[in-house]
Order: sequence, then structure tokens, then C-alpha cells
Amino acid sequence: FVERTLAIIKPDALGKAEEIEDIILRSGFSILQKRRVQLTPEQASDFYAEHFGKLFFPSLVAYMSSGPVITLVIARDKAISYWRELIGPTNALKARETHPDCLRAIYGTDDQRNGLHGSDSYSSAEREIRFFFPDSIVEPIPVGE
Ligand code: CMP
Repeated sequence: FVERTLAIIKPDALGKAEEIEDIILRSGFSILQKRRVQLTPEQASDFYAEHFGKLFFPSLVAYMSSGPVITLVIARDKAISYWRELIGPTNALKARETHPDCLRAIYGTDDQRNGLHGSDSYSSAEREIRFFFPDSIVEPIPVGE
């Protein structure tokens, strides 16, 4: 069934945005919304609030606000899990060993600057899409169809 998810092309992968968008389209997604944004540290903290308190949180916030990012709402059958599979494991360095074809292996840098983000569940997809596209009027996607 068709789902939406939020993808982010992070600062370290921004130079490859066109190439990545081509791959997204060739992988059967449609791009429903797209925004290029420069996050403030406050916005980056808000977006990653669930990681507050972790050792890597301050540098994650600094990284995500270090330059523009491209946020995309993408849709296809099983978009959430499929996009996560396509981007691969969090750590881009390890991904190069274990999943050399995944997008983080190709476009990411290390365990933090991993090039791409994908929502990890239906509820985070809904929250993250609203975070970047608060004004968009979207039909709720029926669950389990
Ligand atoms: P993302 O999937 O966007 O969600 C949380 C982000 O935190 C993750 O990608 C990485 O950018 C970063 N992150 C997760 N784990 C670590 C870690 N162990 N060390 C540094 N950064 C991390």
C-alpha cells in the first residue's frame, strides 16, 4: 500500500542532490514535496529531540545546521521500510563494508555525517513530514490497505 515518508539529503551529500533525486525516482518513488532549507541549531534540536541527551547530540545538531539540506516527501508502496533499506545502515563507514550498494555507503561520510535520513516508522514519518511541511494539506493515507 502507498505510504509517504520523509527523506533528507544532509549537508555532506547536498552536492549530489540531483543524482540522489534521480535514484529516488528510478526506485519507484514519486516526489510529492521538496524544500531546500538551512536549519537553525534550534530547529535541528527540535527535529532530533528523541536523541537529546545522547553523547552525539550536540555534534549532530551542529552538523545538521552546518549547511543547507533538502527535505523530500516521497511516496510509493511500503515507502518507509523501502527507503530505509535503500539508504542502508546508519554508519556510512560500516555500510561500505556490509552494504556497499546502499546510498549511505555511496554518499555518506561516517557514523554521523551519513548523507541521508529516512523516517523510521509510520508515526515518525507523519511527525517529520509535518515538521518540514506544516502547511501542506494532505489526505491521510489509509493504514493497512
Ligand atoms: P539519522 O538516521 O538521521 O538519525 C539520527 C542521526 O544521528 C543519524 O542519522 C546520524 O546522523 C546520527 N547518529 C546516530 N548514531 C550516531 C553515533 N553513534 N554517532 C554519531 N552520530 C550518530
